[in-house]
Amino acid sequence: MTIKCKVSEYCGGCQYQGIEYEKQLQLKQEAIEKLLSKYGKVNPIIGCKNPLHYRNKVQVTFGLDDNRKVICGNYVPSSHFIVPVDDCLICDEKANEIINSVKRLVIKHHINIFDEHTLRGCLRHILIRSTSQDEYMLVLVTGSPTIRNGDLFIKDILKYNPCITTIVQNINNRHTSMILGDRNINLYGKGYVYDTLYGLEFRISAQSFYQVNKTQTEVLYKTAIKAADLNSDEILMDAYCGTGTIGLACASRCKSVIGVEINRQAIRDAVFNMKNNHIENAVFVSDDAGRYMEKFAKEKSHIDCVIMDPPRTGSDYKFMSSLVKLSPKKVVYVSCGPTTLKDDLRYLTKYYDVKMIQPVDMFPYTEHVETVVSLVRK
Ligand SMILES: C[S@@+](CC[C@H](N)C(=O)[O-])C[C@H]1O[C@@H](n2cnc3c(N)ncnc32)[C@H](O)[C@@H]1O
Repeated sequence: MTIKCKVSEYCGGCQYQGIEYEKQLQLKQEAIEKLLSKYGKVNPIIGCKNPLHYRNKVQVTFGLDDNRKVICGNYVPSSHFIVPVDDCLICDEKANEIINSVKRLVIKHHINIFDEHTLRGCLRHILIRSTSQDEYMLVLVTGSPTIRNGDLFIKDILKYNPCITTIVQNINNRHTSMILGDRNINLYGKGYVYDTLYGLEFRISAQSFYQVNKTQTEVLYKTAIKAADLNSDEILMDAYCGTGTIGLACASRCKSVIGVEINRQAIRDAVFNMKNNHIENAVFVSDDAGRYMEKFAKEKSHIDCVIMDPPRTGSDYKFMSSLVKLSPKKVVYVSCGPTTLKDDLRYLTKYYDVKMIQPVDMFPYTEHVETVVSLVRK
């Protein structure tokens, strides 16, 4: 079945709209083989059973059209034009409803819209996170700390969207393409949501990274954990650990876990998640992974296995050179950036043999693909 959304030609979100899902998988398989087959056989990609409405995180930008009417949607790629999106095919369906409802209420309450040229005004973006525990977090990203008519606006948002369990205001008045700024104000509820993954419960704050496709995240983690093949004497480093999800899912299989992550809020979530799941053999450190790895290598500390899951931009030389100095027996590289993965493998394969390459489709209808590569010391 071919599915095409009405704004697919303009919206940058899905590059594979109009292409049958089986064909999408084939294209991704070919792309990974082209990049990585010189390092070993690429296993057949693991597809997603439900390739629509899988995203548990949605963000849209607010603006005014030529007639100064409020619009919200995604930027046309490489531009500052907003394509109105009211029924995204890959986002959680209730999140789509919340977006449309918030837009109506923005108009009703005359909420001032942020102007990215003058850096003046209020509402800039909204972000919604949904979880398998049926919790919904709404983040109102504003250029100014004060939302005029804010109390009535929030009251109405909750009245028309009773599924929302928490509302956070995030202030971002910088000239940036980043959605979130540094400051959060809790407007309603706990300020975070809970999700269940791999039998554990995870707290997720507005600013913490969390995988967007729950079903496929479990497939991805299962693949990575199997590749790590841990035993009860081994020490694991979960590098770029986010809220600690991979490390905590591994904790019962190894002696101890060290998680490192640059985002302090994510580390606070990771520490909370460790305690909340009654796990005692993990520590989480807030630091740049490269800097931490370098320090670790200088101290000649011992690690048996590193599971690394860097951002799309990949890892840096500091991290990679310290990794080979530390020389753990096993490295499991989880990557959402195949090109940077290829570059990092070129370096790593001087010291490690590739045992397995497994693509996993976390992002149907987009060109993005996740890959797990398992390496063992030569
Ligand atoms: C792809 S996410 C993976 C997170 C986690 N493993 C998961 O599955 O949810 C990459 C993470 O790396 C973090 N990060 C980015 N640059 C970093 C750096 N230089 N040092 C440490 N962590 C970094 C991001 O904040 C993000 O949480």
